[in-house]
Amino acid sequence: MNRLEIAIAAAREAGAVLRRKLEQTRIVNTKGPRDLVTDADLAAQTAILARLSAADPEAAILSEEGGAAPDLDGPVPTWVIDPLDGTGNYARRLPVFGVCIALLIGGQPELGVVLDPLRQELYYAERGHGAFLQIGRRRPQPLTVSAVAEMGQAVLGAGWPREDHLRGQAAALLPRLGYACHSLRLLGSAALTLAYIAAGRVDGCLHLNLQPWDVAAGAALLREAGGQLSDLNGRPWQIHQRALIASNGRLHAELVRCLAAD
Ligand code: IPD
Ligand code: CA
Ligand code: CA
Repeated sequence: MNRLEIAIAAAREAGAVLRRKLEQTRIVNTKGPRDLVTDADLAAQTAILARLSAADPEAAILSEEGGAAPDLDGPVPTWVIDPLDGTGNYARRLPVFGVCIALLIGGQPELGVVLDPLRQELYYAERGHGAFLQIGRRRPQPLTVSAVAEMGQAVLGAGWPREDHLRGQAAALLPRLGYACHSLRLLGSAALTLAYIAAGRVDGCLHLNLQPWDVAAGAALLREAGGQLSDLNGRPWQIHQRALIASNGRLHAELVRCLAAD
């Protein structure tokens, strides 16, 4: 198995865990203010770590619910994992969540996998080889971002931060996008939102506090599907950046302008 196949196998195993546990009684704990972790996050993570550490023992691992904090900018290949993106949705049985696995080398995503286990939608990309969506066991289809070039026609995604001070910032910025765009979606899963931009379903998004595991897989998808990822000023995205905008590329400059407007 190559590394992409390993990542896909691990994501599918975690997805099966999440599907199986969804209807069971949840154990929900709080990690921080408005920040949940459930038994399902931990079980999905266990499945991924077992697969990755057996199949790729040389690589380092950063997983959201794990302890290690490897150097993401260094030369050692590092798996970056979010076993359940959209925990808040999952805990309420809102069916919008995903599994994210990326491999970083030198801070750059070499490959990324996002799986929506309920729709059986597997998004994956490998540097230089394009991005694809496989639905069920059907033939994978290449992903391309949308052609929407005007804000008035754009469907945008956004996150609603947990932290009070970032809620203030979001409350100031979101109306700028909300008035200018066609419509706004707060899906509750940053990873699926990025995958949807890669797939042309959504045209752009704004998130103010993401972690490497939220973004790394989606960044690989976006790069290969022709999208763009940056900070709020349009400077190229880097792995440690918390606030970001993503888009189909065509809308990017307008998104930056819209957010900067007085
Ligand atoms: C969260 C989701 C959410 C985003 C948060 C993330 P989690 O991830 O992606 O959409 O707004 O910032 O932390 O906690 O469900 O893995
Ligand atoms: Ca996440
Ligand atoms: Ca998570």
